[in-house]
Amino acid sequence: MKKLYGIGTGPGDPDLLTLKAVRLIENADVIFALNNKGKNMALDTAKPFIKDQKIVFLDFPMGQTKTITYLKAMEKIDQTIGDNESGVFLTIGDPMIYSTFMNMINVKRYDHLSIECVPGIPAFLAGANAILKNVVEKGDRFLLVDDAEKMNLQDVDSVAILKTVKDLDMILDKLEENHFDYYYIQRVSFDDQLILTNREEILNQRHYMSLLLARKSKI
Ligand SMILES: C[S@@+](CC[C@H](N)C(=O)[O-])C[C@H]1O[C@@H](n2cnc3c(N)ncnc32)[C@H](O)[C@@H]1O
Repeated sequence: MKKLYGIGTGPGDPDLLTLKAVRLIENADVIFALNNKGKNMALDTAKPFIKDQKIVFLDFPMGQTKTITYLKAMEKIDQTIGDNESGVFLTIGDPMIYSTFMNMINVKRYDHLSIECVPGIPAFLAGANAILKNVVEKGDRFLLVDDAEKMNLQDVDSVAILKTVKDLDMILDKLEENHFDYYYIQRVSFDDQLILTNREEILNQRHYMSLLLARKSKI
């Protein structure tokens, strides 16, 4: 039986990979990663544990991924993993949080290709640890969004906003109107991790690897 693992590689620091992820990466026959102009954060995180395995980049053009893209990627994966071999598909954070891997396997699966996922530390939880703020306290209602336009802060105590790059002004306006205190966290877990709370300083940053954590002000 062929095996495909969707591996959550966490927020970027290789020390935050799980032992299971490391073991599967070391023993995999093939490594799959998203093709991001030859760069890939999940692959960089896993690099210390990749020996001489074949690395296959899969094309998922951002904002232009269609059903056919997922079908082609799945076909390529199936053709690359040999009988009784295993492949790992590296995905940042946790595979269950806004991941291309899940989008892909929700479009196509093969009976002869068994699939398993390994959790990783989601970026928003790494961010909460970095600022030493709970995401939720007893009784809190928490919202996670990757599209702030759809964000409704009614009846919400705490929110994590991913993919901030596009609408930063609008997001900060919404948070302020709803009396939320916020932290901007960029490249959490890396040496150049950046944490900001000042609106103007935040607006000077436009980085894909950034998120906002915000909490309803108690006063
Ligand atoms: C497609 S989502 C993937 C989320 C991922 N599966 C997870 O569990 O964290 C990509 C977004 O995750 C956030 N992200 C991922 N890694 C990050 C990091 N090291 N620092 C800050 N934000 C990060 C950013 O908001 C980025 O735009």
